[in-house]
Amino acid sequence: MAELELGSRFQRRFLAARQLRSFPWAELEQKLRARPGSPLLAEILQKTILHPLCVKYPPSTKYRRCFLTELIKKHESTAAEPLDELYDALADILNEEESSHGYKNYLLPTGECVTLSESVAIISGGTTGLVTWDAALHLTEWAIENSSVFSNRRILELGSGIGFTGIAICKTCNPKAYVFSDYHHCVLEQLTENIRLNGFVLESEPTRPIQTEPQSQEAEATNSQKPKLIVAELDWGSVTEEQLLDLQPDVIVAADVVYDPEIILTLIGMLQKLSASRADRKPPEVYIAFTIRNPDTYHLFQAELDKVGIGWQIIPAHSNSIFLYDMQPNVTILQLFI
Ligand SMILES: C[S@@+](CC[C@H](N)C(=O)[O-])C[C@H]1O[C@@H](n2cnc3c(N)ncnc32)[C@H](O)[C@@H]1O
Repeated sequence: MAELELGSRFQRRFLAARQLRSFPWAELEQKLRARPGSPLLAEILQKTILHPLCVKYPPSTKYRRCFLTELIKKHESTAAEPLDELYDALADILNEEESSHGYKNYLLPTGECVTLSESVAIISGGTTGLVTWDAALHLTEWAIENSSVFSNRRILELGSGIGFTGIAICKTCNPKAYVFSDYHHCVLEQLTENIRLNGFVLESEPTRPIQTEPQSQEAEATNSQKPKLIVAELDWGSVTEEQLLDLQPDVIVAADVVYDPEIILTLIGMLQKLSASRADRKPPEVYIAFTIRNPDTYHLFQAELDKVGIGWQIIPAHSNSIFLYDMQPNVTILQLFI
């Protein structure tokens, strides 16, 4: 991707509420010093805090406050005339109450956007599922570059969390159907809200068991949306082969679901059930993205796959960086052969 101009780089990071340290601050400072009276800061303010997406779906209060404080520091360090709009915007934010949720707006290459309501804390309500993890961003970048894997196919996502990967794939890769799944009730609620926020209509409600009855013709006719979106309550530890048989996915994806030994064994157990339940059908393609935080966990996953005879290969790194920008976390994607 060609390098975006500075204001747009601030915009993409800000609207998705990426960590402030990933912003091109040094370049901004350099430009401000070179041209102290330049309209650059006013332009960045328009593209971030005053952008219509931010006005409608703002990142958390704390995030906006920290961002503006940093912007003001940069402004003051260049000893230019005070810029009233910066202080006015900060004053508005200082009057707001702190929130436990904030919106993140991820701009897609198509010009569309995925808007999610996310928790401010990385663990809340006893789950890691209420925020979007870097593995989900990485998997989605790969999916956008390899959309033929998803086009016109039935996708099952495991441990969907609040929905970033699935919503982005539905907006960019033209799947036939997309089944989001998770087992945590708060996550399923937030996931459902986020899917609706992005303009999709769901086929089934969350927290109900996976639908086993075939759809009536009437229901089929009234719901002609493509892709069909389903939210399923699916716990890898207790899902039955019969439930899995109903899903019949062509492709399975998951992001950041390999993070401790216990979860690895449950996930592999479920993949074995899936393999056993597919009757004579072609096996689904399986892609799992994860951040290697602890190499022992990564190697344990590979060793356990080997033990049960599930083949795997590492997917080569993709070239675009649509959501992760210059800070590449240690994320990889494994394709599994079940
Ligand atoms: C670290 S979060 C990742 C969420 C999302 N995929 C992402 O990358 O942003 C892990 C997710 O896996 C789900 N999960 C963990 N164990 C599970 C299980 N046994 N069955 C179904 N989902 C599970 C959690 O509820 C959580 O949403």
